[in-house]
Amino acid sequence: MTTLRLSAESPEDIARCAALLRAGELVAMPTETVYGLAANALDENAVAKIFEAKGRPQDNPLIVHVAEASQARLLVKEWTFTAQRLATAFWPGPLTVILPRADFVLAAVSAGLNTLALRMPSHPAAQKLLRAADVPIAAPSANRSGSPSPTSAAHVLADLDGRIAAVLDAGTCPVGVESTVIDLTGDTPCLLRPGQVSPAELEEALGCAVDISPAVLHALAQNETAASPGMKYKHYAPEAELTLVQGSLAEFIALAAREQPDGLLCFDEDVAALGRWTCVTYGPRADPVKQAQRLFAALREVDALGLRKVLVRCPSSEGIGLAVYNRLLRAAGFRLRSK
Ligand code: TXA
Ligand code: MG
Repeated sequence: MTTLRLSAESPEDIARCAALLRAGELVAMPTETVYGLAANALDENAVAKIFEAKGRPQDNPLIVHVAEASQARLLVKEWTFTAQRLATAFWPGPLTVILPRADFVLAAVSAGLNTLALRMPSHPAAQKLLRAADVPIAAPSANRSGSPSPTSAAHVLADLDGRIAAVLDAGTCPVGVESTVIDLTGDTPCLLRPGQVSPAELEEALGCAVDISPAVLHALAQNETAASPGMKYKHYAPEAELTLVQGSLAEFIALAAREQPDGLLCFDEDVAALGRWTCVTYGPRADPVKQAQRLFAALREVDALGLRKVLVRCPSSEGIGLAVYNRLLRAAGFRLRSK
């Protein structure tokens, strides 16, 4: 199939994407976090196409995107007070809530789980497309399963050209890492995936403590079950073998001199001191917002340069930095060195 390149600036192109979605086709949709691979969540064949196009494991559930919080309520068994508080505080925006799935919602969307992940994106192009399509939209990140999430239409096409009906191009995604995912089905809300909305912001909006799933910062042991099935899989992973290195720039330089890596993934201001190695940068050291915006493009660049063994400067894990740190840890297969 030929993948149409359409523009989010054009009302006709948005209408065309909405028509494709309603006809059961796949469209890559820009959101404020990353591009999503959108399909009509009420259409079983369309949902199956998502798993097929991505090469996604059948047991990894999808997030359903809605234009309004009032639509989200219809898709779950019970819209809780906690869910309402979070929707009021953070929707539209980069927060996904997990609640018990309503019986009429396709089990395939949740990969058979009895819960459902829901989010109302804030990107104007996503909003327009959701309204025009007028159906709930299932959308995982629009990458081939296992590779870094796409933050531009070019990234989407690098992975999925010829496998999907269209990509709606709206330039680069402003947040750059996927939404915060919070599970509201237990006694205490539990953060399954960090994103722009931080644990502190969640706790402030809820007025109670939020648990953090152990899988956010640690590799799951063979016998552990993942609260979020996506946590089981190797994710965000470039071909390169990354090692995350904590400590000062001087310690990093000393390690690089000993290990002789093929390249370095570092902060913008490190390059001057690291000139003898091939450097890919992912933002200023003190700016986690920019790091989040650039991280996935940087991981793709590492591979484009053919770098195999790569040492990575470790980011701070404050605020959205927790999301950057989490994605890098996973990209590095949890290889972490303190010197
Ligand atoms: O920002 C985002 O969330 C992007 C954009 C496109 O909205 N979407 C995204 O989807 O990152 P995906 O499929 O790449 O990641 C969704 C994560 C996976 O780790 C999945 O296992 C988890 O959310 N998830 C989805 N439904 C779940 C459920 N019912 N219970 C537990 N985890 C769930
Ligand atoms: Mg994904």
